Amino acid sequence: MSAQRIVVLTGAGLSAESGVPTFRDKTGIWAKYDYREVATPEGFARNPDLVHEFYNMRRRAHATVRPNAAHAALARLEREHEGEVWIVTQNVDALHEQAGSRNLIHMHGEIFSALCAGCGARSPWDQDLALATICGACGEPRGMRPDVVWFGEMPHHMDRIRELVGAADLFLSIGTSGNVYPAAGLVAEARSHGAHTVELNLEPSEGRRMFAEAIHGPATRVVPVYVEKLLASQ
Ligand code: APR
Repeated sequence: MSAQRIVVLTGAGLSAESGVPTFRDKTGIWAKYDYREVATPEGFARNPDLVHEFYNMRRRAHATVRPNAAHAALARLEREHEGEVWIVTQNVDALHEQAGSRNLIHMHGEIFSALCAGCGARSPWDQDLALATICGACGEPRGMRPDVVWFGEMPHHMDRIRELVGAADLFLSIGTSGNVYPAAGLVAEARSHGAHTVELNLEPSEGRRMFAEAIHGPATRVVPVYVEKLLASQ
């Protein structure tokens, strides 16, 4: 049998044990901030300084976190699996890259990138951002913003993501609550194309009934064990 094509959807739970807060857990980000104020285009238009401070605080915090054993296991899977492995992440951190993953799509953008609302240019960015920040491409202070996808905006690379999910033999979902579409709908697309679907999460997610298999526990424990099993069986 030809080597399995594997697509892995990851969410905030994958980075939780690296010290990055999740969104919907009891102590998550949305328990502290109103997403309508800090993660929507309307919120940015109303109060850009508040939104910049929210992302500046997260960008500073992301500078000190490191990949955990689950990120490392997924990078190992990409290196050692005979077939193709792709990661589609909802996370805006850079932990997959730092762990060595290469076949990686950030569908919700990246915290270490800035977008000029004036000319559309994207630039790598690890400092604080403000509305008055000059865009390196157009030279204008015309509304630099974090290069992340806000509620109500279209996630990036959806055609490519659907192409990969449609061709997958195995679809893994790791560390996501299955609350936010279109990411939460990818498991149904994978199933409809015949993929085996597995959820690896601390607890059953909103979409748990869509998965053929579920493995519950902390990512740094369950993901390395699952990857070892996959590699041993190829
Ligand atoms: N190991 C595995 N799973 C974990 C761990 C852990 N250590 N800690 C938490 N989880 C699980 C939680 O049980 C939860 O199901 O990770 C999931 C995190 O869910 P959310 O906080 O909703 O994060 P996510 O699913 O990534 O959110 C999706 O929503 O707010 C938007 O853009 C934001 O990309 C984000 C999207």
